[in-house]
Amino acid sequence: MAVKTLEDLLGEGVEGRTVLVRSDLNVPLDNGTITDPGRIIASAPTISALAEAGAKVIVMAHLGRPVHSGRSAGFAPAGDWDPALSLAPVAAKLGEVLGRNVQLAGDVVGQDALARSEGLTDGDVLLLENIRFDPRETSKDDAEREALAKALVDLVDGDGAFVSDGFGVVHRKQASVYDVAKLLPHYAGNLVAAEVEVLQKLTQDSERPYAVVLGGSKVSDKLAVIEALAPKVDTLVIGGGMYYTFLAAQGISVGNSLCQEEMIGTCKELLERYADVIHIPQDVVIADSFSADAESKTVSVLEIPDGWMGLDIGPQSVKRFAAILSGAKTVFWNGPMGVFEFPKFAAGTKGVAEAIIEATGKGAFSVVGGGDSAAAVRQLGLPEDGFSHISTGGGASLEYLEGKTLPGISALDDQTLEG
Ligand code: 3PG
Repeated sequence: MAVKTLEDLLGEGVEGRTVLVRSDLNVPLDNGTITDPGRIIASAPTISALAEAGAKVIVMAHLGRPVHSGRSAGFAPAGDWDPALSLAPVAAKLGEVLGRNVQLAGDVVGQDALARSEGLTDGDVLLLENIRFDPRETSKDDAEREALAKALVDLVDGDGAFVSDGFGVVHRKQASVYDVAKLLPHYAGNLVAAEVEVLQKLTQDSERPYAVVLGGSKVSDKLAVIEALAPKVDTLVIGGGMYYTFLAAQGISVGNSLCQEEMIGTCKELLERYADVIHIPQDVVIADSFSADAESKTVSVLEIPDGWMGLDIGPQSVKRFAAILSGAKTVFWNGPMGVFEFPKFAAGTKGVAEAIIEATGKGAFSVVGGGDSAAAVRQLGLPEDGFSHISTGGGASLEYLEGKTLPGISALDDQTLEG
């Protein structure tokens, strides 16, 4: 890889130059209030370093997945946006974290963004409105994405640069992640560089025993990572909504629990192929409905009555998983063990997280793979520094471990960059 870093760019000097930064500021919101600012906090150092060094910083970021109905190529008309997906709360929080004013453009590459970018002075930070409000950002048509990338570059002076720092989105081949890198001198930001360094440690010479803990609701989302990791690790612990499909694959009745019928055959095959590696829960906390105040009880997985659903792994399973994890020297965790958002069904996720923290205290190298598990750590009040690293990328970290090429990383590598 021939990837230049933020240090290289700062070494070249950025004073007076406009630098486009792709950050991942896709944070969870509840009625306009940010419930977990982790990604904003993790993105701040790169933006801050550039602003401190006198760059005019233009930040590109997305929030959610805006839907563009009946669109043709081109812009979503101004105002035809879901206001709930505006980056306004993110701009305010970013300003607070940076300790400096962050302007928010009223559009992506429209008149307001252009006027504001022209008015920037050294050290200013401008956040463009949700980049996905422009449907070209996520277009599968190369020409459409390239047109948006050109419009983004038009916001930049002649000697501008692009810094890729949105690790959580590097697995997306999108205009602000991939195509912009072809048009400007490009650099990996501190967050992207740090994340890649950590994930490399999980793929090269990891210390054994190596345990992977996977949860989340759908087996189909985790199938590729199970297939990539099962042959390489010592134990693969499976919890969360996805394990009911593994139970069904053993002929066990799962009541109203989540079950992906079409994946039952695949799960059966995985259980046979990796019998010594895969561990699934033996007891479960069941509920009579999907709600925080549902009636609940703990039963063996063999005793899930019709009409009930499993919403967490049970205490015996936590105990067994904790015993497995206590001897591990490398741990990767992605996906909660249950519906941790409901306090009644949070004990499984909390117990497994605490076991990983304990292993880390004894010297294990532990990585939390972004998304819901990172949110769980913070929402359950667990110490973030109890883990070696909490990734900002859920899908991105999984795809890295699957061995896939990540467009937002390969675009930074001058040896692989086409065109
Ligand atoms: C994420 O939340 O994992 C990243 O921000 C990427 O978002 P996406 O899955 O909508 O592309």
